[in-house]
Amino acid sequence: RRRHDDDDRGKNAFSEQESWEEQQVRKSQLQFGAKDRGHAGDEYELVFEDAVEFVKSAAMAGTEPEDDADELAEEIDAKAVLQRELQDQRKTLPVYKYKDELLKAIAEHQIIVVVGETGSGKTTQIPQYLHEAGYTAGGKKIACTQPRRVAAMSVAARVAQEMGVKLGHEVGYSIRFEDCTSEKTAVKYMTDGMLLREFLGEPDLSSYGVVIVDEAHERSISTDILLGLVKDVARFRPDLKLLISSATLNADKFSDFFDMAPVFKIPGRRYKVDIHYTVAPEADYVDAAVATVLQLHVTQPPGDILLFLTGQEEIETVEEILRRRTRGLGTKIAELVICPIYANLPTELQAKIFEPAPPGARKVVLATNIAETSLTIDGISYVVDPGFSKVKSYSPRTGTESLLVQPISKASADQRAGRSGRIGPGKCFRLFTEHSYKEDMEDETVPEIQRSNLASVVLSLKALGINDLVSFDFMDPPPSEGLLRALEDLFALGALNSRGELTKTGRRMAELPLDPMLAKAIVASERHGCSEEMLTVASMLSAGNAVFYRPKDKALIADAARQRFNAGGAGDHVALLNVYTEWEQSGYSAQWCVDHFVQSRTMRRARDVREQLEKLLERVEIERRSCAGDFDAVRKAVTAGFFRNTAQRRRDGFYRTLKTWRTVFVHPSSGLARVDPPPRWVVYHELVETTMEYMRQVTEIKPEWLVEIAPHYYQNNLDTPEPKKAKAPHGQGAAVVTEKPSPSLNDFFNVQ
Ligand code: CDP
Ligand code: MG
Repeated sequence: RRRHDDDDRGKNAFSEQESWEEQQVRKSQLQFGAKDRGHAGDEYELVFEDAVEFVKSAAMAGTEPEDDADELAEEIDAKAVLQRELQDQRKTLPVYKYKDELLKAIAEHQIIVVVGETGSGKTTQIPQYLHEAGYTAGGKKIACTQPRRVAAMSVAARVAQEMGVKLGHEVGYSIRFEDCTSEKTAVKYMTDGMLLREFLGEPDLSSYGVVIVDEAHERSISTDILLGLVKDVARFRPDLKLLISSATLNADKFSDFFDMAPVFKIPGRRYKVDIHYTVAPEADYVDAAVATVLQLHVTQPPGDILLFLTGQEEIETVEEILRRRTRGLGTKIAELVICPIYANLPTELQAKIFEPAPPGARKVVLATNIAETSLTIDGISYVVDPGFSKVKSYSPRTGTESLLVQPISKASADQRAGRSGRIGPGKCFRLFTEHSYKEDMEDETVPEIQRSNLASVVLSLKALGINDLVSFDFMDPPPSEGLLRALEDLFALGALNSRGELTKTGRRMAELPLDPMLAKAIVASERHGCSEEMLTVASMLSAGNAVFYRPKDKALIADAARQRFNAGGAGDHVALLNVYTEWEQSGYSAQWCVDHFVQSRTMRRARDVREQLEKLLERVEIERRSCAGDFDAVRKAVTAGFFRNTAQRRRDGFYRTLKTWRTVFVHPSSGLARVDPPPRWVVYHELVETTMEYMRQVTEIKPEWLVEIAPHYYQNNLDTPEPKKAKAPHGQGAAVVTEKPSPSLNDFFNVQ
């Protein structure tokens, strides 16, 4: 009965036609984007928006009006059955037995650390218990933060279902650019970053009665900052209850941080897991992983397999190899159902990993770190762990952020192994040696705050009035080099003055939920009279990199269609603007997208983002003005934010960044990659590191703009001509712009 319901829901949520079209689009995009993957931002930025659609439609599916009375009655019946089942399921969760004890502990203590295995019901149940126990009386809300957007959405949908309410009413979620809550909302799931933003408008969080910092063990950068902030709020708001919830062992560290707050342990139902190591290190863990999965499938009793890989590209490779290899296995061997899961996977496909395999078949889930603690997949008996994950790393020296494949920590390896012991005794196959587990692996994963660009965080803290960053109560302080670098960056952007105080520009920037450089470009667009256009560019940049697609059989037509948006070689930012404007003029038509090889999903997302940004623009009182086709204005606004990301084409034909003197290339997906002659001066949105360093989203600029727009940063040496032999394309005057030395850090690092 239940499965039947699920199937119906699937059909309501996505008409088959749409799903097919979108899948095709997705596939062609994958082929086209094959070169791009593995760069910074891939998994961190373009995530999960599809899930919004899914969650919405899933939540609405059951509430559509029905004409037929019989069908209606049947549906009500089905709902009642489903509801009973859900309530029964709730009672089987480990946390259920401890409900009263937990509520008692919360009543007695202001701050509690809750520890329990993944899947014990912390996230879905505890907020409901608190709601039922009256913690939301008098209109106070319960906040439950998640480091991952997809978790915030899917958990909210699940809880709405369990409570029998419409998503967005009593239970809602809030993630960047998407607020699915209402006046009624009492239980609010949100990303940790969103709660951080709420501090800006409500420094004492007075609308909340309870704050649950969930998945605290993930130690995302926003969670770390939140921990420091809520600790402070709790001091002057004795009525506020604070729960720090974690899936792992290091609960003592949280307890210590919160002045020895009591730790409430939810004993999990965890079965024994047999750990197997390889005898010798594996030369190629992908090969080894494939071989192990196949061997398990052929030799082991029923039970699903979970394989941890590092990213989308790897998952797709393994998926393909497994498909090919299982094809020839014959009928004696059971079917192997292959289910990939990574952040960018369209949600209709994501749902597949939760479906049980058909009778007689075995499921293998190919997952990124997302399956380590954020998602619970039932039915896993075998875990294959190559011991790697992709992690963000940041170099304060060069200011570049990248995603690198690195060995995981012991804590991660243990979490992963634990995934196999939820339904019965499990087995974990580690594709590394016991020696390397014991001797080489770090105990814990380094918290994100110690390996990230901190500009955005520092800006938020400054906007909260926290000037003295060094004495901020960090659980693990970020390296001071990173803090200094962030201060420097914000100073260069004009967000801080020379005493390190927030400027008016900085205050406006802080209101925009964007990277500080992009926020600056928007604030600066006011001066250049192009706020409408810059808003569009920013929305397109935020909506993801998958704007165009390129079916293999129509590659040339697609390329031509794409190049048309870059007419005049104005650069990628203006091209994005052109795409959006034409789409808008078409009445936001899906057919227009098909005709022009543009991804309609990305466009819809951009439109949503734009609507959100429009409201914020009003709040920071930036006048909405259009430059009516004066693209130089747009390019200047972009430059005002991204002047540090400037490269010059040297005589040898290679681009070098002005800032760090690195050799960089125009990304092949850029409209400027095929412009002849290539522009001499460019700004770029970001650097993407694959085999080489590529500039992505590139726009030509004039060097004098740098001097005009960022005189504090660049000094003009226009009278130092380049050697005469140098060909100056477009008859540009030879110019050398050099970086001004930064002001002494002591000038604006006013600590102590
Ligand atoms: O937070 P914790 O890992 O302790 O558990 P949870 O997220 O509250 O999940 C408890 C159970 O709810 C899981 O074992 C799943 O069976 C179910 N669940 C679900 O079906 N769908 C979701 N989106 C989330 C949870
Ligand atoms: Mg949870």
